[in-house]
Amino acid sequence: MAAYETLIVERRGRVAVITINRPDKLNALNIKTREEGAAALDELREDAEVRVVIITGAGEKAFIAGADIAEFQGRTAVTQRDVMTGRSLFTAIDTFPKPVIAMINGFCLGGGNELAMACDLRVASERAKFGQPEINLGIIPGGGGTQRLTHLVGETRAMELMLTGDMIDAQTAHQLGLVNMVVPAADLEAKTMELANRIAEKSPVALRLVKEAVKTAARSSLDEGLRREIDLFALCFSSEDKDEGVKAFLEKRKPDFKGK
Ligand code: COA
Repeated sequence: MAAYETLIVERRGRVAVITINRPDKLNALNIKTREEGAAALDELREDAEVRVVIITGAGEKAFIAGADIAEFQGRTAVTQRDVMTGRSLFTAIDTFPKPVIAMINGFCLGGGNELAMACDLRVASERAKFGQPEINLGIIPGGGGTQRLTHLVGETRAMELMLTGDMIDAQTAHQLGLVNMVVPAADLEAKTMELANRIAEKSPVALRLVKEAVKTAARSSLDEGLRREIDLFALCFSSEDKDEGVKAFLEKRKPDFKGK
């Protein structure tokens, strides 16, 4: 792997862990972090050994406390638009062909919550805090927050969070359906790795197609989504993994998926 200034990227068997490493700035997303994050995903995309990616923040306090507010100063509308539409880290996660899990260890705010929502699963420490505080800066979420939060938790609660900028705790985030599970802070890494390893045993082909199909649901009509699902389901029948999965079931053994 390339060396990164703002990230640590480690491989743990079939799982890669990307740690945003700016703890003194609560892992705020500056331009460098966004660029390096997208570059790290490019590397991991090509690596057939890696089947699941975890993204987390360094230190005890924060997952990601949002966009780097210091970089907002003096930025023009055109430059800001380029930052968001250029090579977006959020889009890179959203379209990444393997499951991505956000391991949320602390403050998960603004762009941090948007990044977490671009991931496929979210595991939160009981100490995590969530919010879209952009309104307090006189701006609105610009990394997908207004759309993804509304899809995930519904308009009523999304509107409340974005109009007030208030933070919610991990239990509340779980009740809203914003996170998949809440675990004690001391168990966060072990529980997230356990989940990632369990998923990493499945067929990489089927994982990729599930992700694509589920993401279609939020972006198309039901009829379009159902048609897409049939196409993707049919595509599974061209994979060796499907032959292995069916054979292993009939032979009463564990399948050994190769991702082909
Ligand atoms: N961008 C840039 N720097 C940030 C940051 C952000 N989003 N969030 C925190 N930091 C920096 C602080 O400026 C401080 O740096 P300094 O030590 O050089 O002064 C450092 O991280 C620690 O943060 P601090 O505010 O001292 O910690 P705290 O425990 O008092 O408060 C928060 C924690 C998360 C409540 C507070 O940092 C905060 O409100 N951050 C901004 C959240 C936000 O609005 N995000 C959306 C951005 S669009």
